[in-house]
Amino acid sequence: MCGIVGYIGRKEAKPILLNGLSRLEYRGYDSAGIATIESDKIVTIKSLGRVSDLEKATGMDAIKGTLGIGHTRWATHGKPSKENSHPHMDNSNSFAVVHNGIIENYANLKDFLINNGYTFISQTDTEVIPNLIHFHYSQSNETGNKKFIKAVTDTCNMLKGSYALEILANDFPDNMIVVRKDSPLVIGKGQDEKYISSDIPAILSFTKDFYLLNDNEFAFMSRDNIEFFDKGLRPIQKQAQNITWNAGAAEKEGFEDFMLKEIHEQSKSIRETIGSRIQENSLSSLPDLEMTKEYLESVNKIFIIACGTAMHAGYVGKTLIESLCNIPVEVEAASEFRYRNPIINDKTLCLFISQSGETADTIAALKLARFKGARTIAVSNVIGSSISREADYTLYTHAGPEIAVASTKAYTAQIVLLAIIAIHCAEILGINQEKVQELRNDILLLPSQIEEVLKNTNDIKAFAQRVYKEEDMFFIGRGVDYAVALEGSLKLKEISYIHSEAYPSGELKHGPIALIENDVTVISVLTDRLLTEKAISNIQEVVTRGAKTFIVTNQELNHSFDTVINIPKTNVLISPILSVIPLQLLAYYISKEKGLDVDKPRNLAKSVTVE
Ligand code: AGP
Ligand code: GLU
Repeated sequence: MCGIVGYIGRKEAKPILLNGLSRLEYRGYDSAGIATIESDKIVTIKSLGRVSDLEKATGMDAIKGTLGIGHTRWATHGKPSKENSHPHMDNSNSFAVVHNGIIENYANLKDFLINNGYTFISQTDTEVIPNLIHFHYSQSNETGNKKFIKAVTDTCNMLKGSYALEILANDFPDNMIVVRKDSPLVIGKGQDEKYISSDIPAILSFTKDFYLLNDNEFAFMSRDNIEFFDKGLRPIQKQAQNITWNAGAAEKEGFEDFMLKEIHEQSKSIRETIGSRIQENSLSSLPDLEMTKEYLESVNKIFIIACGTAMHAGYVGKTLIESLCNIPVEVEAASEFRYRNPIINDKTLCLFISQSGETADTIAALKLARFKGARTIAVSNVIGSSISREADYTLYTHAGPEIAVASTKAYTAQIVLLAIIAIHCAEILGINQEKVQELRNDILLLPSQIEEVLKNTNDIKAFAQRVYKEEDMFFIGRGVDYAVALEGSLKLKEISYIHSEAYPSGELKHGPIALIENDVTVISVLTDRLLTEKAISNIQEVVTRGAKTFIVTNQELNHSFDTVINIPKTNVLISPILSVIPLQLLAYYISKEKGLDVDKPRNLAKSVTVE
């Protein structure tokens, strides 16, 4: 899940690599390292911990080269340590490699290399790669660039698993090879220079023109040239694409943390995701989705598949699609779906949600669904992401780069896009038109309502100050409010390390209420008018047992409760877009009270590109 960065050009590589790595740190922060070419020879510098530690590492001052690679690690094989840090080199110190992914057959490859006289200094899966390159290189009859290129393709042909690789060679001090398979990698194009990165935002301040590599595609680069080819060394023609994100979107812009900035961006990201897709009194427009009435009438089941927060958006999507389109929807974690032989055929429509578009489980689930004959739609926030290249159709949320590990603005943008998809399909089917009209009008009010929610943060902050030392909390809700409870609970766990559980309010009496005792915190979400009385009874039940409550609601409560956060009234189907915001802020303020790193919580990485 690490981040990799590279530069080849005429400027000093070091500041570019360190800048890129610090922006990619959200992908992993166990260790960091760079390799550059200094006087035609590879030099590596690594350090345990963060990029800021690497900056101070011995030898850094002497680094002046104009070609280099960098890595910030999220350890999969081998504990975080200096010797396991990337870049890794072969035994003869001729090749340097950084790797994002997992080499599944590394143990066999290691045995093969040991039998051929190679030794290993790290416990990583990665170290087999530079040694295999050396093995093929030393056996090769090729000459010139082809000798380097062939050694790399022969190596990749032996690898099983996922990898994005950047490779330097002592014999080719003016070149770099990169390749990807099931791990992300983009190449930014400048004037006589190239920037390489795991994601676009990390290098957006240097260029807006990008080559997007597909799986099993290689690039051989010099300062003024780039050649693409496949594993059989057949050339590939590629055009750079212009990306319209602005560079400032990847900066904190005066906010203390990316997460706080991203919470505050939600009004804008919803507005941009709506765009011209829906407008008052006219039909929705989703030109990227080709659905006919005949096809939709043939669909007898929709699966929504995703992980984490994206899956929580999927739960809201289920209610939206079922209520507007009258088609049954099942939501499932991608990691479960992909291994359980789901019943799918050409009457199944599968929707995959992924902010990054790089989540390994979600991509594998999509490939499975396609293989079984389902039509696939991807909802992603990253243009050109891997998932968008696998799906039949891709619809983008326009939330801009999301840097904080804890997802906020992507979640609300995903829900609004799911609502638009539900509206669009209902319009094609010609059903539930009154509901569609109402929902369309309510969606258009969301951006200003979000701004209203963000004005009232004092009570949330005060509650965070009261409860930040607690060890357990509970989240409850019914219907879509339960979906939001799940998301609120995940946010709290991720960034405050407080144990929390979310339950459907009606389930409390079936077990969890045994855990409610004096002063336990119970957080409730209550936005469904039809369920208000029942939800209030559930809240009373925990209050009677001594619980402290924090209620997010748009209903008038005729009872006095502890802390009540009032949010604007909206259509219950999209109320999660408003009700989640106080929960995002609560998790944020609790994390700050505890003095934790909000943007980079322990053990987590932004894109889970390994299983
Ligand atoms: C959200 O706060 C999490 N960090 C995580 O659950 C995330 O939503 C999940 O890994 C899915 O990521 P994706 O949307 O990029 O596929
Ligand atoms: N598997 C490699 C390691 O553990 C790379 C992990 C990653 O992608 O961060 O070093």
